[in-house]
Amino acid sequence: MSTVFFRKIGIIGAGQMGSGIAQVCASFGHAISLVDIKRSQLDNAKDSIRQSASKLLEKGKISSSAKDNIASLIVYTEDYASLVESDLVIEAVDEKEDLKKRVLRQVEDVVSKDCVIASNTSSISITKLSSVLKLPQRGIGVHFMNPVPLMKLVEVIPGLQTHKETNDRIMGFVKAIAREPVSSKDYPGFIVNRILMPMINEAFFALMEGLASPEEIDTGMKLGTNQPMGPLQLADLIGLDTCLAIMTVLHNGFGDSKYRPCPLLIQYVHAGRLGRKTKSGVYSYE
Ligand SMILES: NC(=O)c1ccc[n+]([C@@H]2O[C@H](COP(=O)([O-])OP(=O)(O)OC[C@H]3O[C@@H](n4cnc5c(N)ncnc54)[C@H](O)[C@@H]3O)[C@@H](O)[C@H]2O)c1
Repeated sequence: MSTVFFRKIGIIGAGQMGSGIAQVCASFGHAISLVDIKRSQLDNAKDSIRQSASKLLEKGKISSSAKDNIASLIVYTEDYASLVESDLVIEAVDEKEDLKKRVLRQVEDVVSKDCVIASNTSSISITKLSSVLKLPQRGIGVHFMNPVPLMKLVEVIPGLQTHKETNDRIMGFVKAIAREPVSSKDYPGFIVNRILMPMINEAFFALMEGLASPEEIDTGMKLGTNQPMGPLQLADLIGLDTCLAIMTVLHNGFGDSKYRPCPLLIQYVHAGRLGRKTKSGVYSYE
């Protein structure tokens, strides 16, 4: 067990983020309930977690006991009642405010009054999300990066009503699962997406204007600014729907036209080209 801060952890949403968070937390000995409304997502999560854990073991990045923990400590379920004994619940459902609020209320109906209720939102106000809780002082933002098993950073975002004890427990927990926390105030996009998403959005404007091909834009940024992948490749990894949702939060939150989402990004999302998760985005993954 990594820490005394939390023992049992509930994670809502078994998409790319929820499954990655479940994998990392289980590898440190936490018992996990991974909850999704779609059985197919839970089945996919189980497969991708198993594959990822095997690869990490092969590369010597995790121990065989961590891999055993991952295999034995995660329960994949559609039942919110499984959260009942959780000390921490992290929601990682789609980047939609109303959905997240509904999920947080549903979680609070099940858990005890001492359970911390966190959101992995990329951009939505933690103060606003936590306001739907009966005990908003237990709400906090815990923003993991994608892919979770490989990325060290976690942004921690206390809302206006977050209790200091909630913040301290989360900071301790993040360090105990071998991640590096940075604390951000609760403004749209926090630190990373406030800076990253306008760059990705600008890459879509460049593509829309025919400045260069996707490959040239990505190669230019990859080799010219020493990033591991180009902005359009990264958008496909994050999910174009998530990128659009974050740009919309930045645009509405700051009221500044410099954050307006690129029409081409909007068009791809309307066409269902959401990136790697739908096997088609800026690039094709068939
Ligand atoms: N994709 C990224 O790179 C990234 C990085 C950091 C944070 N985030 C944030 O993490 C969250 C999840 O993103 P993702 O990329 O994993 O999305 P995703 O689309 O891969 O997964 C979302 C999951 O939530 C499930 N879900 C929807 N409604 C639900 C409900 N009522 N109860 C339980 N499960 C429900 C869906 O079935 C799906 O499996 C978003 O808030 C996103 O902004 C994403």
